[in-house]
Amino acid sequence: MSREVEARGQPLRGHARRLFVVLMAATSLSACAAFATKPTAPPPAPLATIHPDIWPKLQSGVASDPAIETRVADLLSRMTVEEKVGQIIQADVASVTPDDVRKYHLGSVLDGGNSGPYGDDRALAPVWLKEADEFYAASMNVEPGHVAIPVIWGSDSVHGNSNIIGATVFPHNIGLGAMRDPDLIRKIGEVTAIETKVIGQDWTFSPTIAVVRDDRWGRTYESYSESPDVVRSYAGQMVLGIQGVPGSPDFLRGGHIIATAKHYLGDGGTDKGHDQGDNLSSEEELRDIHSAGYQSAIAAGVQTVMTSYSSWHGQKMAANRGLLNDVLIDRFGFNGFVVDDWNAHGQVPGCTTTDCSAALLAGIDMFMAPDSWKGLYESTLAEVKAGTIPMARLDQAVARILRVKLRAGLFEEGAPSTRPYGGKFDELGSPEHRAIARQAVRESLVLLKNEKNILPLKPRLRVLVAGDGADDMGKQTGGWTISWQGTGNVRADFPHGDTIYEGIASTVKAAGGSATLSVDGSFKKKPDVAIVVIGENPYAEFMGDRDNLAFEPGDPRDLRLIRSLRDKGIAVVTVFLSGRPMYVTREINSSDAFIAAFLPGTEGGGIADLLFRAKDGKPAYDFRGRLSFSWPKAPDQTPLNVGDTPYDPLFAFGYGLDYAHPRDLGALPEAPGGETVAANIDTYLQAGHAAPPWTLSMTDTHGASSPADRVPATAPGGGLSLARIDHLTQEDTLVATWTGSAPASLAISGAPIDLSRQVNGDMALHLELRVDEAPTGSVFLNAGCGDKCRGTVDLTAALRAAAGRGWTTINVRIACFRNAGANMAALSTPFELIADKRFAVSLGAVRLAPGEGPPSCPAGMQS
Ligand code: BGC
Ligand code: BGC
Repeated sequence: MSREVEARGQPLRGHARRLFVVLMAATSLSACAAFATKPTAPPPAPLATIHPDIWPKLQSGVASDPAIETRVADLLSRMTVEEKVGQIIQADVASVTPDDVRKYHLGSVLDGGNSGPYGDDRALAPVWLKEADEFYAASMNVEPGHVAIPVIWGSDSVHGNSNIIGATVFPHNIGLGAMRDPDLIRKIGEVTAIETKVIGQDWTFSPTIAVVRDDRWGRTYESYSESPDVVRSYAGQMVLGIQGVPGSPDFLRGGHIIATAKHYLGDGGTDKGHDQGDNLSSEEELRDIHSAGYQSAIAAGVQTVMTSYSSWHGQKMAANRGLLNDVLIDRFGFNGFVVDDWNAHGQVPGCTTTDCSAALLAGIDMFMAPDSWKGLYESTLAEVKAGTIPMARLDQAVARILRVKLRAGLFEEGAPSTRPYGGKFDELGSPEHRAIARQAVRESLVLLKNEKNILPLKPRLRVLVAGDGADDMGKQTGGWTISWQGTGNVRADFPHGDTIYEGIASTVKAAGGSATLSVDGSFKKKPDVAIVVIGENPYAEFMGDRDNLAFEPGDPRDLRLIRSLRDKGIAVVTVFLSGRPMYVTREINSSDAFIAAFLPGTEGGGIADLLFRAKDGKPAYDFRGRLSFSWPKAPDQTPLNVGDTPYDPLFAFGYGLDYAHPRDLGALPEAPGGETVAANIDTYLQAGHAAPPWTLSMTDTHGASSPADRVPATAPGGGLSLARIDHLTQEDTLVATWTGSAPASLAISGAPIDLSRQVNGDMALHLELRVDEAPTGSVFLNAGCGDKCRGTVDLTAALRAAAGRGWTTINVRIACFRNAGANMAALSTPFELIADKRFAVSLGAVRLAPGEGPPSCPAGMQS
């Protein structure tokens, strides 16, 4: 069971407050009258100025239609100000009901990466459609005197309708980029639209047309290429596939839905690849590199654009009037509407998530206000009434939204279930759709090495299939698959599709060979060849940001696996799953063949298609994938982009071997000092042990904190003792027992880390624990940076509630620590538990996890 700590809203009072002060004094942690210090804001960067004249003058593929304009004007003339304000707000289905949509006249709903109908992200397709019908009915069922405007539901169908169980999941964009096949991109767009429309959704937040320039960014895999030319050649085709051809009868109808070009502008160009970071490009680079995809997307008639969380020279994109109004609308001729990103308006200086006229005035037409929609509705309404937001601007935003809804025929189409493809669940993962995805897998693989033409293999062999990616749907599909981070997915979540091992096994068995799955590479009978499937584990957004491009820094487990097989005289073919190019020269040198497979999606069978010969002995298919990102020679060789001078990659942009043109590479130069230490900003305690580089310590009345690197251990004053016991594996649980003899604390600390993006992303501190003895006194949870700043929440109630319930989890939004005074940009103690009286807890893990449910904080210490 999982529990989100309940909101009690009020600061600590009376007894609790006195106790805390005593505790803090007793544990000498109190030199901090400053525990309520607000984080210091960075100095404002000078605003960069946009010169519209240097941007090309373009036109949308969608022409203005006088009949639609008449209807827009008519609707506007009949709408109340409340209806207009509601129209520009989008709420998340986890935080809004159909009744809210009716009452507040909301223009749109979305399902965020972890949201689903009726609170179930893993709901089956019919349930999604049912809720879509309910939202639609609520929007159309208005009281007399009100105007009925169909609500639209937006969703992240970023690699197929990858949010839902049973859909066809295509390779992530990085793999598609390697195909260099704009026609196939268009077909993928068509399938994605159909599979999204089946469950009643009208709008996909795709394609991502970022041109990623620093592969440390956690969203690199959402990008087709570092090259603006590749992105330009794809963006328009993907939009045509999703939306249909402007002017044709099935534009936005039939099997088509509304597309989004995102994230405008320059998301792929942030400094050091930081998610939600600052893009320091020149205006010319913004135009020539980062805007390339928008130019073809607008020509293809894209109807929505999503702004980026990122900034340009310190100015947040959600409030950049120059780029939104003067470039996107006036120069590029975009004629749909602009939506901002998930609460991104809250990051605009002077704004909060529930109050942000600045974004509307700068050109945002619809606010993505997942959980903040009600407050935002109220403040916006008040500001329009007060005249701080001019009615003309509100009318303009509403008109843009209505225009798109009218173009899509939504006023006439009826309920989602009655529209073309509505409820045609057979379309999800249909054999035709899967065949297109499998073709995309084949076309997207890049053959980096094939020494002595070991590939293609004869299928009639004894094949060992090793590595933790071999039979793991979660790992081959990556982030934005069913869940936001793509974590927690198991085989059963994918009723269709093949793991890579399953694809290999069926090919080999059909030819009379044998395939054995052995994740750790052990075997009884020596195989003829080993196929080792390894790579990155799933992540999304900032959770995927890295300091460098080392694969498995500090602990090259997969390198050891490859070498152990090779040392036994077995030929090794390595298939590498990753969201970006990485430094894997040692893995390449230790393998006979090496394939960059990126994140191929559900159709793992496409990999076997390329690895084995057909019955006639000829290659069944040849490789055609060519790198759309430059491949680095060293972990720190980033940024690295084609066109740089000097340009010295390991494998250049456009590289890729094939069977028709064999070539041996020999040994590649390995980077000196290629060993880097794993940066770890999100896991603090794992299997009962401090996760490196974090360390455990105890503090009690004797003041000085004592390291707890050896367990069992007792704090000097006897207030706290630590032991380890077994839960699932040996010694995977840390048992902390407060004796009550003196107040004491247990802390996990290390060098300061910056969690500000994780705060914006609503992450939570996730504790896996079992309360063995309910606290008789109070227990506080701190996050902070030594004496300078500390955010404290009262965990007593949550822990008492968890007592006697066995293993459970407690999530505390990390924003709660910020609100209580912690400086989340320089956090050196992400976890500290303090108790004064008897209390015993078994701890399995402490780490960051997505916050779920409505945001709430336990009572905090506020000054
Ligand atoms: C992401 C967007 C996504 C949105 C809705 C944001 O955090 O940046 O790409 O479309 O959430 O899930
Ligand atoms: C949502 C995602 C969103 C993210 C923003 C998550 O909780 O599910 O859709 O992109 O928050 O950081």
